[in-house]
Amino acid sequence: MDASATAAEPIPPEVPREAGAGAAGAVFVARGLTKTYRVGELEVPALRQVDLEIGAGEFIVILGPSGSGKSTLLNILGGLDTPSSGEALFRDHVLSGATEAELTRYRREHVGFVFQAYNLIPSLTARENVALVTEIAADPMRPEEALARVGLADRMDHFPAQLSGGEQQRVAIARAIAKRPDVLLCDEPTGALDCKTGITVLRAILDSNRQLGATAIIITHNAAIAAMADRVLYLADGLVARIERNAQRREPEEIAW
Ligand SMILES: Nc1ncnc2c1ncn2[C@@H]1O[C@H](COP(=O)(O)OP(=O)(O)OP(=O)(O)O)[C@@H](O)[C@H]1O
Ligand SMILES: [Mg+2]
Repeated sequence: MDASATAAEPIPPEVPREAGAGAAGAVFVARGLTKTYRVGELEVPALRQVDLEIGAGEFIVILGPSGSGKSTLLNILGGLDTPSSGEALFRDHVLSGATEAELTRYRREHVGFVFQAYNLIPSLTARENVALVTEIAADPMRPEEALARVGLADRMDHFPAQLSGGEQQRVAIARAIAKRPDVLLCDEPTGALDCKTGITVLRAILDSNRQLGATAIIITHNAAIAAMADRVLYLADGLVARIERNAQRREPEEIAW
């Protein structure tokens, strides 16, 4: 596991809390969030007592070395995984301790996911890929609107193989936002993309955050992307090493890597 420069920093427990938006406006609260994976005889600590608050509408970037627990944290907040101990709340829903059925419903109603792999169905067009989700959502936007929001109005009837990587990722974002999620959780959304293409994807995420009010959390290995965030969360060895607030945020088109 890669040890980052931030790993050695002492972590005053009050830092993550005071940097948050306050429990009242919080979309996510984590208290003592701990995840230990068991692989045979081996215990692998992925998160160790994470305390965190994320406010409604915030744009958060998570940075940290490989294995620092970024995906584990995002997966617990998104109801894809459960903690070993500690508490995770989405508004007044307690995610820690929720049943599989409750988590499924939580994900369906509130969470949009975007992963590095686009996970589109190759035999369906862009429109049909988005429609798969809108068919089961409570108050979805039309697939056409979702695709137009990510700049793909003229690519609706293309199959994934007929789209560039950045376009496919924007279809994945359209699919995630079409159900009007409260939170948009993105795990290395630009990981497979070059800079120019990555910027179009970041633009689509930022617009969804601003125009739809979706709280956005983006995991990245790319420190340049941190400049877009309201706050940057640095994870190291399963801990929140520090949280920084950007005094001034950059637009995606202003950053490069
Ligand atoms: N399903 C699992 N079973 C066992 N160990 C796991 C599992 N998922 C993650 N881990 C371990 O937990 C730790 C944190 O993993 P996690 O995937 O959260 O890291 P990450 O910060 O997202 O890394 P990367 O940047 O490489 O994606 C790692 O040591 C990893 O090996
Ligand atoms: Mg990861």
